[in-house]
Amino acid sequence: RALRRRLPRRPSGPPGVTPAPTRHPLQPPYPHPYRFVLNQPHKCRERAPFLVLLVATEPTDIAGRHAIRQTWGNESAVPGVSILRLFLLGTQPVFSAALRAALEEENHLHRDLLQQDFWDTYHNLTLKTLMGMEWVTRHCPGAAYVLKADRDVFLNLPYLVRRFLLPPKKNFITGYVYRNTGPLRRKAYKWYVPRQVYPAATYPPYCGGAAYVLSGDLAGKIYRVAQTLPVINMEDAFVGICLRALGVGVTDSPWGVFNMYHVEYERCRFSRLVMVHHFQPHELLRIWPHFTAPNATCQDELRPRR
Ligand SMILES: *[C@@H]1O[C@H](CO)[C@@H](O)[C@H](O)[C@H]1NC(C)=O
Ligand SMILES: *[C@@H]1O[C@H](CO)[C@@H](O)[C@H](O)[C@H]1NC(C)=O
Ligand SMILES: *[C@@H]1O[C@H](CO)[C@@H](O)[C@H](O)[C@H]1NC(C)=O
Repeated sequence: RALRRRLPRRPSGPPGVTPAPTRHPLQPPYPHPYRFVLNQPHKCRERAPFLVLLVATEPTDIAGRHAIRQTWGNESAVPGVSILRLFLLGTQPVFSAALRAALEEENHLHRDLLQQDFWDTYHNLTLKTLMGMEWVTRHCPGAAYVLKADRDVFLNLPYLVRRFLLPPKKNFITGYVYRNTGPLRRKAYKWYVPRQVYPAATYPPYCGGAAYVLSGDLAGKIYRVAQTLPVINMEDAFVGICLRALGVGVTDSPWGVFNMYHVEYERCRFSRLVMVHHFQPHELLRIWPHFTAPNATCQDELRPRR
C-alpha cells in the first residue's frame, strides 16, 4: 500500500507535466490512464520470482506464444530459479469478437497475458514496455530481475542467470549496448523518429530491444521517471533516455553474448551465449529438443550435465 501511494498519480485532466502542445502522430500518447484489459495482479503474491520475463507479442500471435512457452519461456527452464513469464499485448485497431474470445481462452489456460487498451502498433511498442514496467512496479516489486524480450529471439536463460545475474545486483541493466547512435530522420525507415518527437542528434547509451535484462529495482525507477519525460516511439532508446534521467549507466556484455543478427544454430556455441535475434518461433521448436538434450557435452559449458 505504501508503494501505491508513491506511484505517480495518473493524470485525469491536464497533467502536471506539460506535454508537447501538439503531439506528433508517431509519439505514443503518454502519460495516459491506459486500462488493463487482461491482467494477472496476483501472480507474484506467493513468491517473489527471481526473473520476470516480459515478452512483447501481437494479439494474433498465438502460435508464437505457444512456441515460447515450450522453449525458452518455460517457467521451469532453470532448475532452482523461480521464473515468471508474461506476454505483453496491446489491442488491435480492428478487434474481432473471435480474437477476443481466443485470447480469453488462452489466458484462462496459461494465465500469462497482460493487455492494455492502446493500439498494438510498431510505433506504440514503448507503451508495451511501460505496461510491463508498470506491472512489475505495482504487482511484483520484489522480483530480482526483469527481462524484456521480443518474440523473435533465441534465449539461453540458464546461461544468463549463472553467468551474469548472480549474486543479485541493483541499478543494473545489460544487453547489446548501443552507444553514440542517433535517431533516423528519413521517413521511409521503419525506425523513423521525427525531430518533433526527439530533437537531439544522439541517444544516450541503451540496450537493443530484442532482449535486455535489468534489476527489479530499476523497473520501478524507469516506470516512475517515464511519467515525467516525453515518450518517443523507439522503446529501447527510450529506456536509455530514462536511464540517463536516473543517472544509471548500462553494463556492456561480452562480445557475442547478445547477438543482434541471426546466428546459425550450433549447440555448443548457443550454450555459451544469451540471445540471438531474428530467431523465429518455428525454428525454436525445431532446435529445442537438440539444444536441451541431456547427453550433449560442450567444453566450458555452464549448464548442469547429465
Ligand atoms: C517445461 O519444462 C519442464 C521441465 O523440463 C517440462 O516437464 C514441461 O513439460 C515443460 N513445459 C512445456 C510447456 O513445454
Ligand atoms: C498508439 O495508441 C494510441 C492509443 O490507443 C492511439 O491513439 C495511437 O493512434 C497509437 N499510435 C500509433 C502510431 O499507432
Ligand atoms: C543423444 O543421444 C541420442 C540417442 O543416443 C542421439 O540420438 C542424439 O543425437 C544425442 N544428442 C546429442 C545432442 O548428441
